[in-house]
Amino acid sequence: MPTRTSSQPSRRSQVEPFHVMEVLKAAAGRQRTHGDVIMLCAGQPSTPAPAAARSRAVEVIDAEVLGYTESTGILPLREAIARYHHRVSGVDVHPDEVVVFPGSSGAFTALFLAAFDVGDVVAMTRPGYPAYRNTLQALGCEVVELDCGPDTRYQPTVAHLEALAASSGPPAGLIVASPANPTGTVIDSHVLAELAEWCEAHGTLLVSDEIYHGLSYERPTACAWETSREAVVVGSVSKYFSMTGWRLGWLLAPEALRRPLEVVTGNLNICAPAISQHAALGAFTEQARVELDGHRSRYAATRELLIRRLPELGLHDYAPPDGAFYAWLDIAHLTDDSVTWCRELLDDCGVALTPGVDFDTAEGHRKVRLSFAGSTQEVAEALDRMAASPLLRPRG
Ligand SMILES: Cc1ncc(COP(=O)(O)O)c(C=O)c1O
Repeated sequence: MPTRTSSQPSRRSQVEPFHVMEVLKAAAGRQRTHGDVIMLCAGQPSTPAPAAARSRAVEVIDAEVLGYTESTGILPLREAIARYHHRVSGVDVHPDEVVVFPGSSGAFTALFLAAFDVGDVVAMTRPGYPAYRNTLQALGCEVVELDCGPDTRYQPTVAHLEALAASSGPPAGLIVASPANPTGTVIDSHVLAELAEWCEAHGTLLVSDEIYHGLSYERPTACAWETSREAVVVGSVSKYFSMTGWRLGWLLAPEALRRPLEVVTGNLNICAPAISQHAALGAFTEQARVELDGHRSRYAATRELLIRRLPELGLHDYAPPDGAFYAWLDIAHLTDDSVTWCRELLDDCGVALTPGVDFDTAEGHRKVRLSFAGSTQEVAEALDRMAASPLLRPRG
């Protein structure tokens, strides 16, 4: 008797699904029957790619072969990304230090393969972006979640790392995101600098997910390379640049990791989509910046609306929405089961939120994430509907 069936899935593939998929399925069902769904669960802009990127895409379809490119990305794009980092953070980046991938998701997979071995310990925040954990676990790494609460803006500090190092030694890696998903909080520049220095001194690879840069409202964002060029900086055209479906991200990588990254991504992906690489050249132009800063102004106005109106709904406890387009709300006074509560809210008034369980394995059953990436009117209408819903009345 064989010990396994031919199509048996691997143990490593048994990672957590995204629970929000259940809400999305239910939302699609309600849309078919009622046609009234307001989606506040999508972690993506509701706007298309900037006009300058779209017109480049149209031009190159006729003018270029659009075959495979260099696996690290076309030189003009790596130059544009290097100039972008210099403009926004003042760091000098050489185009050879930029490696382009199919989305930052593709960059994370390649980076984890290039930098970590099976059994390596990698730390991340809780709450945090679940794909870090799931991808690392699928690759055989051990994930340690750092419990980060309101006292540190849901972000890690050197104290978290010292405590971890005291119990099990310094981790092989630390992933931070600022602005973060799901909380939207920003790491203060001096805290990021302290983390970067600690990581460099302890042989820990700092992976700084900066894909929401460009979307911060009151607190400035810092780049990890301002302190340590041993860190890896992660970028993407998905969020500020409003190009999620084009699947284009990049890393700023220290010298020792550049060749391994090139080799790994060459094998995994050959290259990032050629059309997206050409289109992205348009996204780094002045013309696109004016358009994209307009989106940021709209997010900022919607954020103001939320800050004003959430307390009227009895939602007083939420993470400071410093950046991105998320509000991370505590609903402990309403439920202990955020998945069911989100389903019921959808059934009651057609508003789709994301249950917190995707992002926080300990407290997520009492949290939801509200995405304000849509239009301000849509969010205002959703808040009106929620205000009238019995699900917003505290449990007796
Ligand atoms: C914090 C964070 N990092 C990375 C990603 C992956 O983005 P992409 O692959 O579109 O660049 C996301 C997507 O939502 C995210 O929220």
